[in-house]
Amino acid sequence: MAPSGSATGAAIIALIERWYSGPSLPSSTQNDVPPNSWANNQDLYSSVVARSCRTCHVARPDFLDWDSFTNFDNYKPSTRSRVFGANNLTPLPVSMLEAPGTIMPHARRTFERFWLSTSPAQPEILRDYLLSQGVQ
Ligand code: HEC
Repeated sequence: MAPSGSATGAAIIALIERWYSGPSLPSSTQNDVPPNSWANNQDLYSSVVARSCRTCHVARPDFLDWDSFTNFDNYKPSTRSRVFGANNLTPLPVSMLEAPGTIMPHARRTFERFWLSTSPAQPEILRDYLLSQGVQ
């Protein structure tokens, strides 16, 4: 049965199948490899999305499933404002509370995991990606 809301559950099924090596889940160990669509941005996926976004976004409607790089990329202006609020992205370090509007990662646990991370510093990885895409 699909989870409630407008999500289909397809993203959750795809994630679990990827973890355990296919539809029949042949692997007994979890293998958290980035999805193929993230081949050119594996560090951003593994260091940021998998740790601080995926647990919720895999259960959002499919267009907010960040396991599709295209979806994530389509929403980069929104990610910029939802994660960093009114903060200026150019000077380091980027900070969490100096400006209003920092909403994502949307729960205390994930918010702290993201903003308090140091090695690697997730906000800086996401910031670098956004700036590299011309999203200021
Ligand atoms: C605790 C759950 C949770 C986590 C973690 C989370 N999100 Fe979200 N996100 C949501 C929910 C729920 C929505 C839809 C409701 C809304 O738009 O506020 C959403 C919506 C969004 C949107 C879409 C806004 C729009 O334009 O419609 C973006 C962009 C986004 N999140 C980015 C992120 C990024 C980037 C991360 C990781 C750094 C992240 N989120 C982590 C729950 C979460």
